[in-house]
Amino acid sequence: MNILVIGAGGREHALVWKISMSPLVDKIFVSPGNGGMSDLAECIPLDETDHDAMVEFCRDKNIGLVVIGPEAPLVAGLVDHLEKENIPAFGPSAYAAQLEGSKGFTKDICTKYNIPTAAYGRFGNAAEAKDFVRKKGTPIVIKADGLAAGKGVIIAENEPQAFAAIDDILGGQFGDAGAELVVEEFLLGEEASFFALCDGDNILPLATAQDHKRVGEGDTGLNTGGMGAYSPAPVMTDEMTARTINEIILPTVRGMKQEGHPFKGVFFAGLMITDKGPELIEYNVRFGDPECQVLMMRMKSDIVPALMACAQGNGQGNVDKIEMVWHDQPALSVVMAAKGYPESYKKNTEIKNLEPAGQDKDTYIFHAGTKCEEGKIFAIGGRVLNITAMGASVEIAQGKAYTALDQIDWPEGFCRRDIGWRAVKREELSDPK
Ligand code: AMP
Ligand code: GLY
Repeated sequence: MNILVIGAGGREHALVWKISMSPLVDKIFVSPGNGGMSDLAECIPLDETDHDAMVEFCRDKNIGLVVIGPEAPLVAGLVDHLEKENIPAFGPSAYAAQLEGSKGFTKDICTKYNIPTAAYGRFGNAAEAKDFVRKKGTPIVIKADGLAAGKGVIIAENEPQAFAAIDDILGGQFGDAGAELVVEEFLLGEEASFFALCDGDNILPLATAQDHKRVGEGDTGLNTGGMGAYSPAPVMTDEMTARTINEIILPTVRGMKQEGHPFKGVFFAGLMITDKGPELIEYNVRFGDPECQVLMMRMKSDIVPALMACAQGNGQGNVDKIEMVWHDQPALSVVMAAKGYPESYKKNTEIKNLEPAGQDKDTYIFHAGTKCEEGKIFAIGGRVLNITAMGASVEIAQGKAYTALDQIDWPEGFCRRDIGWRAVKREELSDPK
C-alpha cells in the first residue's frame, strides 16, 4: 500500500519513520515534509487547501491511506472530502474536529455528556463575560473559542487582566477565532496528556505523555508549541488512566456518535489531574508535537493496521481488537529551536554534525523546521529538531538525548536543559541513590 502523510513537523517525521517500518507499506509520500525525511519518503509539496488536487494526487499515486498530522486540514474538512471519494483517511471529519477547533463546542459536549471539566461560560459579549468573571473571582482562565496557534489561552491572576483579555479577544486579536470566548474556572493540579485511537465506536488506548510548554527552564517564559516531552507520564497511574478512559474518553465517543458525527482518529486529551481526579482541559484531534515523537519511539507494534482501522470506521473498524505492544522503557524528546523562538528568529542557518550525533541505537533525531539542500541541512522554522531517546529510566533517556544534542553543531539553536525534570525528580524520590 502507498501512504500519504500530510505535514512538515517533527510529528510527521516520527509518523513517517514508524509507518516506514510496516511490512504493509510500499511507498510513503509526505506533503510537504522537511529536510530529514527523504530517506524514508518522497516529499512533494501539495496544496492541502485544494481538496480536489489532493484527491487527484491520491488517485494518481494509488494512495491507500492518507494520514493527516496537523489540525488545520482536519478542521477544514479534508477528511470529509477524501472519504466522499472513497480514499481512506486517518483523522476526524470537520464536524468532529470541532473538539479541537471550538473550545465552546467541547465544553458543551462535556456538559451534555457529563464529562468532568472546569466550570465555564461561553460569551460573545464583553459585558456578560466580565459579569461572569466578577461572579467567579480570580484566578480565572479566558480562552478564544477557535484555533489560535496555542496563544488563545490567558490565565488571568486578577480582574484587570481578565477584563483586558476579554477585550483583546473580542476586539479581534485572534481574528475569527476570537468571535466568541470561553471563561472557565482555574484548575489546580498536574497536567498530563492521554492518547487514544478511535474508529467511531471503539477505542484503542495508546499512552500518556507530558509536554513542556514554556520556552524557559523551570517552566518559565512564553508559551510555545512544546519544548520537549516524555512518555509515560508518571502522574497517570493505572487508576487515573482507567478513570480518564471511563469518565472522559468513552463518554465523548458515545456522545459524538449520538450527535450523529462519530469521532475517528486520535484523541489527544489535555488533562489536569486534580484532587478529584482527571478533568478535561482540552481536546486535540491529532497527535501532539513533540508528544508523537516519544509515542512512536515507544510503540513496538505496527501502527498501520491501527490507523487503517480508524479510517475504516462505520462500525467495521474494530480498533479495540488490535493488540498494541509498547516498550516498557520511557522515551524523552528535547526540542532544539532557533534562538529567539517563539518570537522572531533567523532562518537559513546551517546545522552540522547531525549524522554522528544520531548514532546511538536508542536515539533518533527527528527533523521539524529544516530543509535539505545539496546534502546540507538548514533551519527554516522555529522548532527545528527533536532529539529523542529511550532508556531504562527517564533520567537515562534524558542523558542520551542531551549527549546526542551536544554533538550537534548549530550555534544559532537552543534548547531547554531540564526536559523531564518532573519525572526525574519522582525517580530520585522513589529510588534515592
Ligand atoms: P489549552 O490551549 O486549552 O491547552 O490551554 C493552554 C494551557 O493553559 C494548558 O496547557 C494549561 O496549562 C492552561 N490551562 C488551560 N485551561 C486551564 C484551566 N481551566 N485551569 C488551569 N490551567 C489551564
Ligand atoms: N505539544 C502540544 C501540542 O501538540 O498541542
